[in-house]
Amino acid sequence: MARKIIIDTDPGQDDAVAILLALASPEIDLLGISCVAGNVPLKLTSLNARKVCEVAGRGDVRVFAGCDRPLVHPLVTAEHVHGKTGLDGVELPEPAMALQDGHAVDFIIDTLRAEPAGSVTLCALGPLTNIALALRKAPDIAGRVQEIVLMGGAYFEVGNITPAAEFNIYVDPEAADIVFKSGIPLTVMPLDLTHKALVTAPIVDGFEALGNHAGRVVASWTHFFERFDKAKYGSEGAPLHDPTVIGYLLAPELYSGRHINVEIETRSDLTRGMTVADWWGVTDRPANAMFMGDIDAGAFFALLTERLARL
Ligand code: RIB
Ligand code: CA
Repeated sequence: MARKIIIDTDPGQDDAVAILLALASPEIDLLGISCVAGNVPLKLTSLNARKVCEVAGRGDVRVFAGCDRPLVHPLVTAEHVHGKTGLDGVELPEPAMALQDGHAVDFIIDTLRAEPAGSVTLCALGPLTNIALALRKAPDIAGRVQEIVLMGGAYFEVGNITPAAEFNIYVDPEAADIVFKSGIPLTVMPLDLTHKALVTAPIVDGFEALGNHAGRVVASWTHFFERFDKAKYGSEGAPLHDPTVIGYLLAPELYSGRHINVEIETRSDLTRGMTVADWWGVTDRPANAMFMGDIDAGAFFALLTERLARL
């Protein structure tokens, strides 16, 4: 039985690769995509999500627009990483598929209420605004979510948008606080893990060598995306953050971490959005998240490449 998921996302090249990985994997039943403002404004993330679905020839996927700004703070975007369009690296045609009517938050609520309790996983690849608002608007859904698997946060790797915080959590720390206090089973892919999933030149060449449209497009995105992180970290490739969320659904054995307490800083300007992870168990705060620290990157990229070949 395929695993039912909703992807909440702010595409972003890495989000785009995650969506393609999900669409290429028969183990996954993608119920729909909810878009949120993050890497670029909502108008672009909800356009980009549709462009990505059409790269996979999947104009049938239901794509919804959600929140256009965080719960409290003004929107912070990341064009410096993803380019003006959010999907720089290759020119893609305007999508033929339209956005679904209705707000993404209502799509999340209605889907969780309609599907059997505990049968839907939320895969969060951007700021947690949509998911937090759904929990606020319909508290009953908290008990109906199978698991939230999210890309966000950092502990040993510290921050990427500020010295203390990772982008997704930084953009909407109040939303993250709601999610991390929801009691829903959480599996977190922080920078500690994603910085070990570096998309190096041979991997990009491998995407190109697939010889299909998806392979060429992913090679162009990752080639564009890596320039920023290489300059910043001097690494030989950029971390491919969001696909690690989908990879976990397909091959959890490639991942390791600890079930610990993680709380979100929401009051300090200096450390806003920091994920305060009790990795060493120095507090008696209850564990609320499986906080991932390591990944078998070779096997992950082999899986990703093999799946992209199927599109
Ligand atoms: O910090 C990395 C995260 O922020 C990724 O999800 C990337 O797409 C951006 O949203
Ligand atoms: Ca993202």
